[in-house]
Amino acid sequence: MEKIIIFDTTLRDGEQAPGASLTSTQKLEIAYQLEKLGVDIIEAGFPIASPDDFAAVSQIAKKIKKSGVCGLARCLKPDIEAAAKAVKHAKHPRVHLFLATSKIHLQYKFRKAEEEIIAIAKNAVRTCRNLCDDIEFSPEDATRSDRDFLYRVIEAAINEGASTINIPDTVGYSYPQEIYSLISDISNHVSNIEEATIAIHCHDDLGMAVANSLSAVLAGARQVHCTINGIGERAGNASLEEIVMAIKTRQDAFRGLSTQINTKEIFRTSRLVSNLTGFVVPPNKAVVGRNAFSHESGIHQDAVLKNKTTYEIMDPKAVGVAQSMLVLGKHSGRHAFRDRLKTMGFHLDEEKLNKAFVRFKEVADRKKDIYDDDIRAIVEDQIRQVKPLWSLMNFSVASGTGEKPLAKITLKKKGKDISSQSSGDGPVDACFKAIDKVIKLNAKLEDFRLEAVTSGKDALGHASLRLKVKDQTYGGHGSSTDIIEAAVRAYLDAVNKIETK
Ligand code: KIV
Ligand code: ZN
Repeated sequence: MEKIIIFDTTLRDGEQAPGASLTSTQKLEIAYQLEKLGVDIIEAGFPIASPDDFAAVSQIAKKIKKSGVCGLARCLKPDIEAAAKAVKHAKHPRVHLFLATSKIHLQYKFRKAEEEIIAIAKNAVRTCRNLCDDIEFSPEDATRSDRDFLYRVIEAAINEGASTINIPDTVGYSYPQEIYSLISDISNHVSNIEEATIAIHCHDDLGMAVANSLSAVLAGARQVHCTINGIGERAGNASLEEIVMAIKTRQDAFRGLSTQINTKEIFRTSRLVSNLTGFVVPPNKAVVGRNAFSHESGIHQDAVLKNKTTYEIMDPKAVGVAQSMLVLGKHSGRHAFRDRLKTMGFHLDEEKLNKAFVRFKEVADRKKDIYDDDIRAIVEDQIRQVKPLWSLMNFSVASGTGEKPLAKITLKKKGKDISSQSSGDGPVDACFKAIDKVIKLNAKLEDFRLEAVTSGKDALGHASLRLKVKDQTYGGHGSSTDIIEAAVRAYLDAVNKIETK
């Protein structure tokens, strides 16, 4: 079998999705899970972008042992030095350089001539070579670049020492046949291409990111850039789970090709990324959506009971979709809780473990049976939380038919309780307005969703929302058996991110 290298950029391009920002603790938790999933390379961030980004990449580089760890850099010396320094302690460090090559970018972004671009690319790879052995080079906007110029840039980058050449469809403009010819043409026209691995990086602006990536693989690309749940800039990136499962399921088309992904970890990874970024997975999302393996029509149900393959092309167990297991109840102790977390693959420090246990007990008092998914929601609330500036002391809300809902809320900041009350269009709106009064924040609610984590009347509800303040979007999440409390917790989570920033 020939291997397709999976280059996961959830923590870099994925995190560039508006509102998806993650703390370094959350990034590390995702990195551990990506390692468990078996991705070959984790693009952990853009180290020059901010001290936080640098710290997150460098922490991931130190902790991750199996996957390679990569940092992104523009073709500028300070970027390259920061990226190389951040990944230095990784078992397999890589620096990913990018430089735009399309006419549009040259003219409007750089105001530079082609020869200058080639010189910059050469110089950057040369500089990088002294700092990191493994260099990937991306001619940004490759799919809209002049072919001959593109070949020359690639050739120059390989000559200087780049061992992977990534072809980005930066604006998601291409389509499968075009990508197939582009990759074939690069293989046929770049004289030294044999010395490098060809990679593909597709965006989903026209909904073709996965199809384009697979087409590139068929044309000879041997590394694919992708993200969990397809999150990323604008319409997102090619989704890892779809690419991996397409290659696995359609071995007739992808003959002799395989990835080293442990597909049983796909579902868990998808939920972790969704919960930490606040990007809810649509129910009809391929491979990981709630409905991806459920059969509604009677005819389908009947056939599936007779033989699953009538309407199922993948075994749900192969991607880790299993019945959520009944695991703990209100009499379960800290030991059982800790053990369960370990089995589920969470890494909590003592402080977060204690907080999660307290929350588990609160939930267990209200909910008889606690399932894996409940525990996941509780723990992810802890991982997600930034050090809260504001915490919820108590709230109450009165609402009913023909009554204007009225919420009363008490929050704590630096040891001081502050209360407020407000009416609103509904109980949730009243609570949010009461919080706004305390915090004196002028934020716009952009998105609000509620989902049941497990089934049953006492199910844990998970709220996720996005708040916009001065062009910046912040995600917030919260869970509780009381859906209004879940919403309040989610609102405070976002508020704390805004206030900490
Ligand atoms: O989409 C893009 O072009 C990128 C580059 C940095 C590779 O993300
Ligand atoms: Zn991208």
